[in-house]
Amino acid sequence: MLAKLGGTGSMDRVDYGTFEASLERSARLEQALQENPTHYRVLTGDRPTGRLHVGHLFGSLQNRVRLQGMGVPIFVVIADYQVLTDRDSAADIADNVHQLVLDYLAAGLDPENGSTFIFPHSHVPELNQLLIPFLTLVANAELNRNPTVKEEIQASGQQQINAGMYTYPVHQAADILFCKASVVPVGKDQLPHLELTRTIARRFNSRFGGEEPVFPEPRPLLSNAPVILGLDGSQKMSKSRNNAILLSSSEDETAKCVKTAKTDMDRLITYDPIRRPEVANLLLLLSLCTSRAPEDLASEIKEQGASRLKSLLTEALNEYLRPLRRRRQELEKDPEFIHHVLKKGIVRAREVAQDTLADVREAMNMAYGIDFDAKQGNAPNG
Ligand code: TRP
Repeated sequence: MLAKLGGTGSMDRVDYGTFEASLERSARLEQALQENPTHYRVLTGDRPTGRLHVGHLFGSLQNRVRLQGMGVPIFVVIADYQVLTDRDSAADIADNVHQLVLDYLAAGLDPENGSTFIFPHSHVPELNQLLIPFLTLVANAELNRNPTVKEEIQASGQQQINAGMYTYPVHQAADILFCKASVVPVGKDQLPHLELTRTIARRFNSRFGGEEPVFPEPRPLLSNAPVILGLDGSQKMSKSRNNAILLSSSEDETAKCVKTAKTDMDRLITYDPIRRPEVANLLLLLSLCTSRAPEDLASEIKEQGASRLKSLLTEALNEYLRPLRRRRQELEKDPEFIHHVLKKGIVRAREVAQDTLADVREAMNMAYGIDFDAKQGNAPNG
C-alpha cells in the first residue's frame, strides 16, 4: 500500500527517531551554522493566535535574533491558515498578525537588514500550491499517527476534526520547502512535522526529481532554551490560560501577574525543578533576566521566602523588558511601517515561491509553456 504512493520503493515509514539523536545532530548543525552562516536558509514561524509572552521571548525569539545577528538569512512565516484548523473564529486574525509583527520587531527581528523576511502564508499563493502535490506523497495512516496532531486534536476538545487539522503538517511542509529552507529552529513538539517535511522532500525528489534533487532535506535546530511554565503552575505559559507575562504588558500588569504566581508552603527558597516546579520556574525567569545561576539566586533569597522572590522577579522582568517595550510602543504609533514590513516579506516570499513552483512543475512534467499573467491577459515574455 505504501509502496504505491510513490512507486519508487523508498516509501519507508516516517521515522521519528529519538530525541537524544536529534539533540546531537542539532548541536553539530549549530557548529556548521557558526562557521558558514550565509550557506544556510532558516525558515521558522508561528500561528497568529495572540500576543507573545516571555516564554516565546526566551524560547524562540531570542534564538532567531541570535541567528539573524550571525548573518543567517531568515524567513518567518505567520501561519494564519493554520489558525483555522482548530479555532472556530477568524475574527481576531488581522489584529493578531499585527500584534505578532510588533512583538517580532520589538524583540529585535530586523527586516530592514535585507535578509530577514516576515510574511503571512495566506498571501503567498505559490506556496499554497505545493500542498496538492505534497498531499499525494503522504499516506492517511501517516497523518493519523502524527503525535503532535493527536495532541492538538485532544487539546482542541472538538467533536468534529476538520481535514485541515490532519493535513496541516503537510501544509507546514509547504511553508518550509517553498523557500528550500535548510534549517528550521523548532521546539520538541514540532519535530514530528519536520520529520514529515523531510520525508516529503525525499519522496518528491525520488518520485519526480532528476539528477538534481528539487528540495533539500531541512534539518531541525533545537534550541537549548528552557521551557517556561505558566505562572499558575500549569504546564505551559499561554495567554489564553491567563498565566503569561506578555511582552506588551505594562509594568503594573507584570507586577500583578507575578504577585498571583503560584508557589508552595515551604518558606525556604531552594532551586528544585522536580519537587518544586513553581518556585523553580520563578527562579528560572529571574535567572534569565539577570544572567545569574538559579541556585545562587535561591541561596541569596533563602528564608526571605516567595514574597521576596516575587518582588525581585517583578523588578528584574520590568527592567529586562523595558527597552523592548519602549521599542514596541514606538512601533505601535506607526502601523504603516508594519504594513511595509509585511509587504516586503510577501514580495520576497512570492519571488522565491514562484521559482520553486516553476521547478516543481518542471519536475512533475506540468510545465506546458503557457504560463501567463491572467490579469494582463497576455504572456509575460510574448
Ligand atoms: N506549527 C507551528 C506552531 O504551532 C507554526 C508553524 C507554521 C511553523 N509553519 C511553520 C513552525 C514552519 C516552523 C516552520 O508553532
